[in-house]
Amino acid sequence: MRSHWTNRWAFIMATAGSAVGLGNIWKFPYMTGTNGGSAFVLVYLLCVALIGLPLMMTEIMLGRRAQRNPVDGMAHLATEAGGTRWWRGVGYMGIAAGILILSFYSVVAGWVLHYVLRAASGDFSGMTATQAKDQFSNFVANPLALLLWHSVFMFLTMFVVARGVTSGLERANKIMMPSLVVILLILLGYSLAVGDVGRSIEFMFRPDFSKITPAAILSAMGHSFFTLSLGMGAVMVYGSYLQRHASIARAAFYVVLADTAIALVAGITIFAIVFANQLEPAAGPGLLFQTLPIAFGRMPGGTVFATLFFVLVGFAAWTSSISLVEPAVSWLIENTALTRARAALLVGGLIWLIGIAVLLSFNEWSEVKLFGLNIFDLFDKLTTNILLPLGGLLMALFAVWVMHAAHAQEELALNDRHYRRWLFVTRFVAPSAIVLVFLNLIGWLPFI
Ligand code: TRP
Repeated sequence: MRSHWTNRWAFIMATAGSAVGLGNIWKFPYMTGTNGGSAFVLVYLLCVALIGLPLMMTEIMLGRRAQRNPVDGMAHLATEAGGTRWWRGVGYMGIAAGILILSFYSVVAGWVLHYVLRAASGDFSGMTATQAKDQFSNFVANPLALLLWHSVFMFLTMFVVARGVTSGLERANKIMMPSLVVILLILLGYSLAVGDVGRSIEFMFRPDFSKITPAAILSAMGHSFFTLSLGMGAVMVYGSYLQRHASIARAAFYVVLADTAIALVAGITIFAIVFANQLEPAAGPGLLFQTLPIAFGRMPGGTVFATLFFVLVGFAAWTSSISLVEPAVSWLIENTALTRARAALLVGGLIWLIGIAVLLSFNEWSEVKLFGLNIFDLFDKLTTNILLPLGGLLMALFAVWVMHAAHAQEELALNDRHYRRWLFVTRFVAPSAIVLVFLNLIGWLPFI
């Protein structure tokens, strides 16, 4: 007997927990910063609503119908529809993508944990830009420090996964997600009081169509998959723990809404703090670790609020990381005699080892390059730009061209109008958008 979430709210909370992560609080603000602000935000919002939401419904639908881990789930659904069992390859690819993503995600989440302590010790107060930069570079130059925090984060992740669906994943999300929202609202209040919210909102929302470049469009599209956890079976496996009667469309809607709202509020908060201190919004990946500490260091109550901020990011990362290993763990326990705890130890151990190669790419192995990318960038690009969109593409194609329409419709339980919309997007819009991202990657789009 497979476990299931206690109720549909547990599913929504867990899936929102998976979606809301470093992608929202670290990647989204810095990408907005480097891609010209409002233009990027606008395209991102369109992608999330037009492509992300229907794909989220598709992935949940596949999982719930299959009632199995993504590998056996795809094989089962394919058999049911008279297709080839090779579709299970989508599941294997998802497992591999999850392992690769977590191996670098955990390293960055480790930085966050380290910054919680650093913030709490009052380290940021009065810090200059050079000091902030040096502090960060000295930290990532130290493999042992990175190893320590990567190990701590992997331990936290596997601890939750080992405890199972209801007492592990469900409970962790039920505690952390509401706390995350509360902390975020406190920080928003803080930035309303001492930040420059006006400029921040203008930066993020004042339409400036001259800044909508093809490059911004494509990176916004790619990011919408990553931030919604789509394309690797994380949402599918969570969907497989969802009870029969719950409405998939409504659940998907709430998850997408929560993920987007949290990204926007995080962006507004962060830029308000950045602008109030005359700092640079386009600082790139260092925005959180090099720019924000300077800002907090100058502001009243900076120590407390900086600590809260990094705790928030840590929670967000933690509820996401557990969803990255769940496909692999569920596949192992449904196919071997391993207990959940052992399976978690095995998968966690493997990711921990691969993570060591990733953290060395910031120091000892910084010269080790493939296609001109170090290990960290390689894993990030390979998963975000190739494996996730490919997984999403295959799932969408499978749902509309292989599965029986009656089965999809029964599972989605949409009225005719909405069903036709879902079908149209899943058949044509999402696949062509994804193919466009790929073409850009290969450099076949002349206008980039
Ligand atoms: N969505 C998470 C974030 O924004 C990361 C994540 C968790 C993820 N599970 C995933 C990304 C599955 C892709 C696929 O941080």
